[in-house]
Parts: sequence; structure tokens; C-alpha cells
Amino acid sequence: MSLEGKVAIVTGSGRGLGLAYAQELARQGAAVVVNDVDEATAFDAVASIEALGGRAVAVVAPVGPTDTAKRLVSTAVETFGGLDILVTNAGVLRDTVLWKMSDDDFDTVIDVHLRGTFTCVREAATYMKDHGVAGRIICIGSPTGQRGNFGQTNYAAAKAGIVGMVRTWALELKRAGITANAVIPVAATAMTATVPYFAAAVEADAAGEPMPAFFRHDLGFGTSDDVSGIIAYLASDAAADVTGQAIGIGGDRLQLWSHPEAVATAYHEGGWTTEALHDGFAEAVGDLQPVGEKFPPLPEDLQRS
Ligand SMILES: NC(=O)c1ccc[n+]([C@@H]2O[C@H](COP(=O)([O-])OP(=O)(O)OC[C@H]3O[C@@H](n4cnc5c(N)ncnc54)[C@H](O)[C@@H]3O)[C@@H](O)[C@H]2O)c1
Repeated sequence: MSLEGKVAIVTGSGRGLGLAYAQELARQGAAVVVNDVDEATAFDAVASIEALGGRAVAVVAPVGPTDTAKRLVSTAVETFGGLDILVTNAGVLRDTVLWKMSDDDFDTVIDVHLRGTFTCVREAATYMKDHGVAGRIICIGSPTGQRGNFGQTNYAAAKAGIVGMVRTWALELKRAGITANAVIPVAATAMTATVPYFAAAVEADAAGEPMPAFFRHDLGFGTSDDVSGIIAYLASDAAADVTGQAIGIGGDRLQLWSHPEAVATAYHEGGWTTEALHDGFAEAVGDLQPVGEKFPPLPEDLQRS
């Protein structure tokens, strides 16, 4: 598999998962437009790719506004002669419970993740369509967007919205031969390093040791490098038929998420009036759906606090 001759943009690729994606795409032969709001990490990321013999350029700008999306695409085209792959990865967290979440907490997260994904994909897909490029759009979701999570109203909205947009783009871009997929990663990064549940894994990683099998296998939690392979695979010619999917990856685990579907269907002649629902709702729908992520209890030797 080679991405030789391809050009990629990876947003938020100064550090963490984005950096791993940019490095893996470059390792497979793609030229990469690195993007971050943090200038130092963006330039370090470019240097790390060049040190491995790859080609990269940095665009230091906040994802969200259309102007940044236009700059990213024009930099790819002017520096490397085109655009084949877009990975929308930039992200921030402003976690707090609903009743404490400010307008600013909500807007900031929606702006970077949801609007940033929309503006970048609109710009990239338009370029790809206009130039007959069978491009690859890879958007980053989260388990929180799939199932909800305590303290993450803003993030859940943004990440669920991203997967919703991906389903729509898979339909709209199919005729142009452009694929659109969501990757649902889990990895040890600055974003997850402070979660107490993952402490033993983060500790092992920091010490340069392999993470315990419980994390890698049972939880699908590993390093950023464990996630980067799926990005390069989806970007490749081999994945031309993979579109509209939400693919979970982390540690040793790969998953295909289902899209929402009706799990119970019942009919009531004349329609479901309030009275009919009062009498028949429980029987009609059966078992209710659980929400939130299901974490197994941490084995005792992996508990840290
Ligand atoms: N780490 C995980 O387990 C996990 C799980 C699910 C989803 N994700 C998602 O993966 C992506 C990367 O997460 P990470 O863990 O590497 O986080 P991270 O905080 O380590 O990296 C995010 C990067 O995005 C940059 N950034 C922030 N706002 C930006 C903006 N407006 N424009 C450009 N760059 C911006 C940051 O400077 C940083 O370099 C995010 O979308 C995150 O929501 C991560």
C-alpha cells in the first residue's frame, strides 16, 4: 500500500493523534499539510516528518472559520499540486455538566469540531469534485458522540453531528468517487491522560513500557500510533469502496459501529394517541436502550486512585 503522489491535510496535527496521522500518511508517501493553532508544535511536526524523509508544510491557523479551510486547501494545491486526503482531527474540550456549561463552553467546542469539520470538508470536497479527484474525507468522532457521556454536552453534540454529516456526505459524494468515513479513536493523549480510569495505561506508556493487555484488548485503549493505520488505510486506493462508515479503533481493537436503526416497531390502527401510548408503550417498544459507555471494572492491580 502506498500513498506516493497523494497530498493530505490533517487538522490539529501538531501533537497527539493528529501528529500520528500526519506522520503515518507521510511514511506511506503522502505530502502533508500540517495544521495547528499552536505554532511551535506545528513546526516541530513538519520537522519530524522531514526528518523521516517526508514532505510537509505547516498552516498555523484555527480550524472553524471558512478562511482557515480555504487556506488549508490553497496551501495543499500551491505547495504540493493538489489535494487527495482530508483528515478533520482538530479538537478541544470544555467539559462540565449541563447546568454549569456556559454559552462560550458550548460555542467553542461546536466551532472547532463541528463547524471546523463542516468548513474544511466543504472546501476540500468542492476542490476534489471540481478536479475529478477520487478523494478521501476522514472525520474524527468519539465514543461520546456515539453514546453520550457525563459532562460532555458540547462534545457529544459536536461528535454525534460529525457522524451525521459523514453519513450525508457519503451519499452526496458517492457519484464523484469521494469517500467519507468517521473514525472513532481511543488513545492515550493529552486529552485522555488525566482520566483516572486510564492512569495505569498512561503510566506504562510514559515509562516506555507496553500498556497492560486489559487496556489494549478489553478497552481498545492504546497509543496514537495504534490509531494511525486506519487513517492511512482509509486514505488508500484499497479502501475505495469503504464509505459512510463509523470505524472504532484503539489498542488492539478494531470495531465497526452500527448506525442508528429502529430496534422495535409497533403499529396502532388510527395512530398512537396519548391514551394508546399510556396503555401500550412498554409492550410496544420492549427493552429500553442504555446510554453512555460501558466500562468493565478495573482489575485491582490496575487501580491507581
Ligand atoms: N484521545 C482520545 O482518546 C480521543 C477519543 C475520541 C476522540 N478523540 C478526538 O481525536 C482528536 C484529537 O484528539 P487528541 O486526543 O490528539 O487531542 P490533543 O488535545 O492531544 O490534540 C488536539 C490538537 O488540536 C489542536 N487544536 C485545538 N484547537 C484547534 C483549532 N481550532 N484549529 C487547529 N488545531 C486546533 C491542539 O492544539 C492540539 O494540537 C480530537 O478531535 C478528539 O476529540 C480523541
